[in-house]
Amino acid sequence: MGYQEAYDKLEKYGQLHVLKYYEELNEQEREKLLAQIEQTDFEVLSLCGKREELNPRGKIAPIKVMQLAEIEEKKEAFTACGLEAIRAGKVGAVLLAGGMGTRLGSDAPKGVYNIGLTKEVFIFQRLVENLLEVVRQAQTWIPLCVMTSDKNHDMTVAFFEEKDYFGYKPEYVTFFMQDMAPASDYQGRVYLEAKDKISTSPNGNGGWFLSMMKSGVADRMKEAGVEWLNVFAVDNVLQRIADPCFVGATISTGSAVGAKVVKKNAPDEKVGAMCLEDGRPSIVEYYEMTQELMDAKDEQGEPAYNFGVILNYLFRVRDLEEIVARRLPLHIVEKKIPYLNEQGELVKPEEPNGYKFEQLVLDMIHELDSCLPYEVVRNYEFAPIKNKTGIDSVESARALCLENHIEL
Ligand code: UTP
Repeated sequence: MGYQEAYDKLEKYGQLHVLKYYEELNEQEREKLLAQIEQTDFEVLSLCGKREELNPRGKIAPIKVMQLAEIEEKKEAFTACGLEAIRAGKVGAVLLAGGMGTRLGSDAPKGVYNIGLTKEVFIFQRLVENLLEVVRQAQTWIPLCVMTSDKNHDMTVAFFEEKDYFGYKPEYVTFFMQDMAPASDYQGRVYLEAKDKISTSPNGNGGWFLSMMKSGVADRMKEAGVEWLNVFAVDNVLQRIADPCFVGATISTGSAVGAKVVKKNAPDEKVGAMCLEDGRPSIVEYYEMTQELMDAKDEQGEPAYNFGVILNYLFRVRDLEEIVARRLPLHIVEKKIPYLNEQGELVKPEEPNGYKFEQLVLDMIHELDSCLPYEVVRNYEFAPIKNKTGIDSVESARALCLENHIEL
């Protein structure tokens, strides 16, 4: 894109300040900035003023969850069905590791965080070790795709290489980068993070399949015969990945997606709860839980919205291809965004100073016709690391690992 085109695009969106330092830049820096202007979707910024009206909710109702007792009863058949699919090469795993992990307070990718006490135990290592258990059980390798972002890609790849992929077979590991979105102040003016660079942040975990398609990785998986993708978050160090019983339950119930859920430990726990929305599977976020929803009971007299998602989903690939064509809802999230001040100096704010724009994987569930919410034992499969201390922290995850006899 040439200067004039870039100028016209910025003018259209009220972002001409992006060119403030253009005269000072050398040829290479100018090209870089013009290319970024060309790639950036400034349309999203117009949503800033409409934050409240963005994603109106439909009618929320309870959804049927497959609970532990039923799973136990059908465990053998589900596991056999899951193992058959895994052995036939129909199941792949996708690790969502493009997030910034700002709450953990480290600039490095979250997966390189060492949670060990007497030895090194990295978050990535824990996840790979969990997947390796299934590899051993099924006696076959499972393709593992790792989504990174512009901000952490090189470090992530280098870390896997340095640690010999934690025992995984490198041919079965593929990295791909997610897309970025501009970050702006509260009025929707993008920040600059350098004189030749607009501030950007990863565009949320909902863009994973589109990014996988753009990078060619989705096609490679399809050619290899993968029909199901188990998407999971980087921060839950206990979760089972490509868990044969879960895979079998999702396939044999004819569901388009399976969602692992845990029983909530309080009605207001900060996890999204599975529900139906206008008759379709959906997730109601913890901040959307009204008192009425928290008090609601099902036919057995149990809390009606008692199961929270843990960001471990098994998607049927052919349905994903259909839903990516539709645009997922956009979420505007307040964040701390590093920016250049009036003097052109980089500032790293202590408090949130603007918005980033994200799509969320949980919104994909609502696009699908059927979902199997599948209960897992909380203390055995849910140890998220979001913070350094307190709830969902390195400390709480360590305690849960020890409870499960994992050496740290
Ligand atoms: P979180 O919602 O915890 O976000 O991500 P985060 O960016 O990692 O952490 P904070 O909020 O800044 O502390 C849940 C999962 O989604 C991935 C994360 O890596 C994590 O596995 N994620 C999130 C992405 O892959 N890309 C994103 O843009 C955002």
